[in-house]
Amino acid sequence: MIIKQILDLKKAKNAILLAHYYTLPEVQDVADFVGDSLALSKQAANTNADIILFAGVHFMAETAKILSPHKKVLLPNLDAGCSLADNCSAKQLALFLKDYPEHTVISYINCSAEVKTLSDIIVTSGNALKIVSTLPKDAKIVFAPDRNLGAYINKETGRKMVLWNGACHVHDQLTADEVFKLKTKYPNAKVLAHPECKATVLAHADFIGSTAAMLNFAKNDTSNEYIVATETGILYEMQKQNPDKQFYGVNNPETDFCNECEYMKKNNLDKIYNALLTESPEIILSEDIIKNAWAPIQKMLEY
Ligand code: 13P
Ligand code: SF4
Repeated sequence: MIIKQILDLKKAKNAILLAHYYTLPEVQDVADFVGDSLALSKQAANTNADIILFAGVHFMAETAKILSPHKKVLLPNLDAGCSLADNCSAKQLALFLKDYPEHTVISYINCSAEVKTLSDIIVTSGNALKIVSTLPKDAKIVFAPDRNLGAYINKETGRKMVLWNGACHVHDQLTADEVFKLKTKYPNAKVLAHPECKATVLAHADFIGSTAAMLNFAKNDTSNEYIVATETGILYEMQKQNPDKQFYGVNNPETDFCNECEYMKKNNLDKIYNALLTESPEIILSEDIIKNAWAPIQKMLEY
């Protein structure tokens, strides 16, 4: 019933529903487009819809607003934040950058619009290696806010970027021990990992990439079993695309956290319906922020 109401409202209001792979299965099912951060930004930049309803987290909806400032951008639940983005305020970063004059500031897209205004280039997990590799080997670079992704880029590209000391609470608590236990249980399984995981986890991976890249790998690879070190929501699409393959999520039973991003799960069907009906909560950003945050995102899209 609510699904039909959402579909009808979407049509009546010329709205597009964009969803990230970490959202609830029923949200992914009702979305017009499901993707990783890079693909979602591209969709937001190119849509003809009047309303962009973003089933994701706050920084993703802000990015959509920056790329489509004249459209109404709705986030079903304003509490859908991100521990990684919250870990690096613009004020703190500005202070940090004082120690690194003449550095190029590269920020992972998982940061606030204000942090984007302090950045020269934005990257996602889907294009970070490619973009950083285009800069000279000896370029002075500050990378924020994910130390794990930053360390992975340094290792792969031979760069020596200065890293902001932040991490995602979901990925950072996954351990090599847990991956190893699963490897022992499923010896034929390949390990897929998101680069937000710690280096000790990435060391076990057969493939490292964004959510979309991991999905692509699983689809085209010949193995039948995979251990997946990222947020659990991705398993829905993986299983859908590969009904004959087995996927095992990595968890950490020793912490209070599980491999679930509680922010992403705040987008439920009720909230989505209400957001469409009331056209709120809306993402509002000042013209200045939009202008200054647009430039580093646009640089990314040009690559
Ligand atoms: P992707 O861009 O790989 O989908 O990652 C988004 C994210 O929030 C990872 O935690
Ligand atoms: Fe942020 Fe981590 Fe959730 Fe991704 S999984 S949105 S980085 S808190």
